[in-house]
Amino acid sequence: MAGQNLDSQNSDDAQIIAQVCKGLEQVVLKGRTLDWLRAKQSNALATPQHRDLMFGSVRYFFSLKQQISEYLAKPLRNKDHDLEMLLLVGAYQLQFSRRPAHAIVNNAVNACRPLGKPWARGLINGVLRKMQRNPDKFSGSATTNNPEWLVQKISQQYPNDTDALLHAIDQRAPMVLRVNTSKISPEDYCLQLRSGDIPYTISAPAKAIVLATPQPASSLPGWAEGQIAVQELSAQFAATIVLQNMPSGAHAPKLFDACCAPGGKLYQLHEQLSGRFPSHQLVGNDKSPTRLEETRKIGQRLGHTDDSRIVFQNTDASAADAISGGNYDVVIIDAPCSGSGTIRRNPDIRLLLQPEQIQEQQSAQLALLRNLWRGLKQGGTLLYSTCSVFEEENDRVIEKFAGEHTEAHVQPLQLPLGTATRFGWQMLPSEPTTDGFFYALIRKAQSS
Ligand SMILES: C[S@@+](CC[C@H](N)C(=O)[O-])C[C@H]1O[C@@H](n2cnc3c(N)ncnc32)[C@H](O)[C@@H]1O
Repeated sequence: MAGQNLDSQNSDDAQIIAQVCKGLEQVVLKGRTLDWLRAKQSNALATPQHRDLMFGSVRYFFSLKQQISEYLAKPLRNKDHDLEMLLLVGAYQLQFSRRPAHAIVNNAVNACRPLGKPWARGLINGVLRKMQRNPDKFSGSATTNNPEWLVQKISQQYPNDTDALLHAIDQRAPMVLRVNTSKISPEDYCLQLRSGDIPYTISAPAKAIVLATPQPASSLPGWAEGQIAVQELSAQFAATIVLQNMPSGAHAPKLFDACCAPGGKLYQLHEQLSGRFPSHQLVGNDKSPTRLEETRKIGQRLGHTDDSRIVFQNTDASAADAISGGNYDVVIIDAPCSGSGTIRRNPDIRLLLQPEQIQEQQSAQLALLRNLWRGLKQGGTLLYSTCSVFEEENDRVIEKFAGEHTEAHVQPLQLPLGTATRFGWQMLPSEPTTDGFFYALIRKAQSS
C-alpha cells in the first residue's frame, strides 16, 4: 500500500514537472510572460509546487542554462527544447530544493514519459547525476545570472550599488498589504493577524504591513470582506504624495488616474481622499478593457465600485480625446514601463526584456505626459511614476518633458525610503521591502 502511494506520488510529481516544462517553453522560446501563462496555460502554474518550479527556473535561468551546457556533450536538437527545460527544472531543484537529490533526479527522469520522450531517460539521468556529484560547480553568481546588457546598464547607472542590486533581483519579493481604511483601522487589522498567528512587521513610513512569509491573499483574515489589498510598499507612497501636494483651494478635487489598472493606487487614493474631503471625483482610466474589468472586480471586493465618486474610462490616454482641457487638479500617470524594478516579483522580465524596448517605452511615456498635461488646471499637480530603475524611463523623461514646457515646474520630493534623483525620487529593490520605483512631481504654473 505504501509502495502504491509512493508510485502515485512519483507519477504526480512527474506530471507536474512535465507541465512546468511545457510552460517554460512558452516563456523561454516563445517570449510569453508568466501572466500570459496564468491566463492561457494555467496548468503550468496550478499548485504551489508548479509555481515554485516555474518561478525558480525562470529566476535562475541564465546561471542554470550555463551550468547545463557544461554537462551536455553536445547541444540538444531544436525539437528537444522540452528536454532542456526539464534539465533546467532538475538543476534548479538540485541547487535550491531541500528534497533528496536522488528523488529529484528520479522525478525528472520519470517526467520524460509525460513529455512523450521516454527514450531520453538515460540522457536526463546522466546529466543530472553528473551535476549532483559536483555541487561545488553550482557556480550561479548574481552577475552570471543576467543578460550582459542588463549587468552593463545597472553598473553604468548604479556604479556604487551594482552588486547589491544584482543580488537583490535574485531574491523573492516580500508580500505587502495595504489596509482599506474605509473598512478597518490598521491597528484593528493587525489584531486579526496576531490572533491568526500570522507574523508581520509594519513598515513605519507607509504604515504598510509586510508579511514575514507570503501566503495566498484569499487565506488572509478579512480578505473576502475587502479589509485589505496586496500592494507593494513603494507603490503605497503615491497617495501620500498626492494628498500632500494637493493644489491649494481644491475643496472637491478632480483627479485623473490615466493608467489605473488594476487599481492599487486608484483605490488607495479614493480611501484617503474620502477621509480628507467632503467630496471628490476620481477618473480611473486604462486602455485595456480586460484590466479595467479586473479593476472593477477588485473594487467590488473593496466596497468601492458602486461609489459614484469613481468613474471608469477605457481610452488610450495618449489619444487626444482621453482628457478634456484644463479640468483636473491632479493627473496621475503610473506609466507602462520596462518593469525593471520588479524583476524579483516578475522574474520573466529578465528573460524577455530587450534593451531597445526601453527607448520605445520612453516614447510612449512622453506621449502620455504631453497629452495629459493639457488636462491639468493651472496650479495643478501631475504625479509621474514607473516601476523602473532605468533613468531612460525616469529622469530623462521628466527632463525632456520639462524642457519642452516652460510652465512645467518639477517639484522636489522627499520620501522616507530611496534617494533623490535630478528630477524625482528613486526607490530600489536593494532596500529589502521596496521594489524599484520612481516618482516625479510636476506643478503647472499659474499664468501671470
Ligand atoms: C503600471 S500599470 C498601472 C498600475 C496601476 N496604476 C496600479 O496602481 O494598480 C500600467 C497600466 O497602464 C496601462 N496602459 C498602458 N498604456 C496605456 C495608454 N496609452 N493609455 C492608458 N493606459 C495604458 C496598462 O494597461 C496597465 O494597466
